[in-house]
Amino acid sequence: MAETFAIPPQQAGVASANSALLSVEHVEKVFGGRGNLTHALDGVSLNIAQGEFIAIMGPSGSGKTTLLNCISTIDRPSNGRILVKGQDITKLSNRSLAKFRREELGFIFQDSNLLDTLTGFENIALALTIKGERASQIPERVKEIAHKLGVEQSMNKYPSQMSGGQRQRVAAARAIVCDPSLILADEPTGALDSHNATVMLETLEGMNQNMGATILMVTHDAYAASFTSRVLFLSDGRIFNEVHRGTLSREEYFTRIMEVVTFLGGEARHAG
Ligand SMILES: Nc1ncnc2c1ncn2[C@@H]1O[C@H](COP(=O)(O)OP(=O)(O)OP(=O)(O)O)[C@@H](O)[C@H]1O
Ligand SMILES: [Mg+2]
Repeated sequence: MAETFAIPPQQAGVASANSALLSVEHVEKVFGGRGNLTHALDGVSLNIAQGEFIAIMGPSGSGKTTLLNCISTIDRPSNGRILVKGQDITKLSNRSLAKFRREELGFIFQDSNLLDTLTGFENIALALTIKGERASQIPERVKEIAHKLGVEQSMNKYPSQMSGGQRQRVAAARAIVCDPSLILADEPTGALDSHNATVMLETLEGMNQNMGATILMVTHDAYAASFTSRVLFLSDGRIFNEVHRGTLSREEYFTRIMEVVTFLGGEARHAG
C-alpha cells in the first residue's frame, strides 16, 4: 500500500538542481544527544523553481517547522546543503545571514507578528526602511502594495484595530513589499476562520500568479494546500510523496491531497 503513495525522495521537485531557486540537498537535522537523538529531518531533498507556490504537509512531528527553520536560516542542518540561487546558505557567517534574510526572504507567521505600536502603513514601510530603500520612495511603494493586496483600509489602523484577516493580509503585504526571492509562510491561515482563510489564500495565490512571488507554505489544511501548484508531504523527516496540481480543478486537486493526508493519518477539512 505504501508503494502507491511513497516516492523516492530524490525525485521531489519539478525544477532541476541547476535551475532551482531553492535546492535542499540531503538535509538531516538531529536534535538531542547521547541515547536521546531525534532525526527531525532524515535526508530531505527538494527543488523549488522561481514562481512556484508550494505547500508542505505532514503529520505533527514530521519535520515541517524544522525544515522551514533550516531554509529560513533560523536553524542549521546537521548535514546536507541548502542552496538559494546557487549559494549554500548553510555556510554563511552570522553577518551574511542577516543580509540574506533581509534581502532574499519574506516571512508570514501564524499570528501576523506585526508591531503593535505601528500602523499598517508603518509596519510595511519599516520593512523597506530596514532594507535600505530611499525614504522618498517608501510611501509610494507602500501605497502600491496596499492597493494590490486590497488592504488600503488597514493602513491607518494599529494591529489591535484590525480584524485577524486584515492583520494577516497586512503581514502578507509586508512580506512581499521588498520583492524577496522566496516567501516562507508557517500556517498563515492557522488562526483564521474559513472566510478569512479563503481571502488570505486568494491573496497568496494573487501574489504568486500576478506578482511572481515564490511561496513555500507549511499547512495542516488540505483546503489551504489546494491553492498551491504542488504539495510535498513529509513523514518521519523524509519526503514521502508529492502531488502536482497540473491541469486538475481545485476540487480534484483537493481530493488527491486528501488521499495522501488520509493515508498519512493527518487531519483536514473539506473543500469549499
Ligand atoms: N529543539 C528541539 N529539540 C529537540 N527535538 C526537537 C526540537 N525541535 C523539534 N524537535 C523534534 O523534531 C521532530 C520534528 O519537529 P517539527 O517541529 O519540525 O514538526 P512539525 O512537522 O512542524 O510538527 P507540527 O505539525 O506539530 O508543528 C519532532 O519529533 C520534535 O519533537
Ligand atoms: Mg510545526
